[in-house]
Amino acid sequence: MTKIFKVDKIEPEFQSISYAAEVLKKGGTVAFPTETVYGLGANALDEDAVNRIFAAKGRPSDNPLIVHIWNINQINELVSEIPDIFFKLAEKFWPGPLTLVMKKSSWIPELVTAGLDTVGIRMPNHPAALLLLKYADIPVAAPSANISGSPSPTRVEHVINDLNNKVDVIIDGGDCAVGLESTVLDITGNEPVILRPGGVTPEQIEKTLGRVVVDKYVYSKLETQSTKPRSPGVKYKHYSPRAKVIVVDGPLDKLIAEINKQAQNHIKQNKRVGIMATEQTKDYYVYGEILSAGDREKPETIAANFFRLLRFFDEKGMDVILTEGIDRSGIGIAIMNRMIRAAGYNVINV
Ligand code: TXA
Ligand code: MG
Repeated sequence: MTKIFKVDKIEPEFQSISYAAEVLKKGGTVAFPTETVYGLGANALDEDAVNRIFAAKGRPSDNPLIVHIWNINQINELVSEIPDIFFKLAEKFWPGPLTLVMKKSSWIPELVTAGLDTVGIRMPNHPAALLLLKYADIPVAAPSANISGSPSPTRVEHVINDLNNKVDVIIDGGDCAVGLESTVLDITGNEPVILRPGGVTPEQIEKTLGRVVVDKYVYSKLETQSTKPRSPGVKYKHYSPRAKVIVVDGPLDKLIAEINKQAQNHIKQNKRVGIMATEQTKDYYVYGEILSAGDREKPETIAANFFRLLRFFDEKGMDVILTEGIDRSGIGIAIMNRMIRAAGYNVINV
């Protein structure tokens, strides 16, 4: 049986958090809110505990986990080398949606890093997460708290749907503010490389460091399944609802026309169609179930709703979800990365 605790977003209750912290210390699993998405945590230094995460999610064991900390001093036991730029980045972006990949120490089990010699570390920016990590006072390995492959969970109902009775505790701390996962930045080499775009934008990192490289797999499909990417996660089917997702990208007028055409065609074939529109476009659609994800001028609103709407369309029994391409600047690069992957690279350029 999973215990579910609802906590205050700003001042999480001591009793619930300390109970969950004990569960972590004893090798159990706890789903908890972060500012990005909900995470499923276990003691990163306890291999049996980490195995429970993989089992609950049905996650392939060659996909490494991010280690979560609450205090910057914890990195000393987790990494074997601290690059100079680490301190600049941590000072600027922690706690926050940035995961830093560094050379791992020998304390971290191979299972956490899927055999890699590096580890991704992040300090989440959510009172419940920080307090849980503080009370447990152990590094906590935590992937997103969803069944492997499905859209990431941004509210507690998503976690309950996917993981009820598969984990020990679920902490309900409300909706996740960012709605997309952290940016994964590799700082082991000469150039800092974004392996996964996320809550911290390339522009923000560039402003802090003066440079940043975006890994080519952020957009392109792996040439073959045996190609070894720097971020193993890019290999797998990801963020996918049951419905078939089709991205339509291009100038707004053409994009609207194409989505109307696609919707009409699918409806003729007796398919149920959902359209993930935006404030600027929603009134131009004629067919299907039309929902606005947010404001194109404020892409963070689209980020916050994206995974939730994929799940919502699934609940409504849609067969097809049509989504609109958006500008790739700022958080747009992360939104487009998730959208294209949710669609299995099914993109119509108009
Ligand atoms: O916002 C987030 O990052 C959330 C919350 C819970 O913190 N966590 C999350 O974890 O998204 P997960 O496991 O769903 O995604 C982790 C990603 C994967 O794509 C994985 O391949 C990559 O980070 N990753 C982890 N460790 C890595 C490493 N040492 N080198 C390269 N990529 C790594
Ligand atoms: Mg995930």
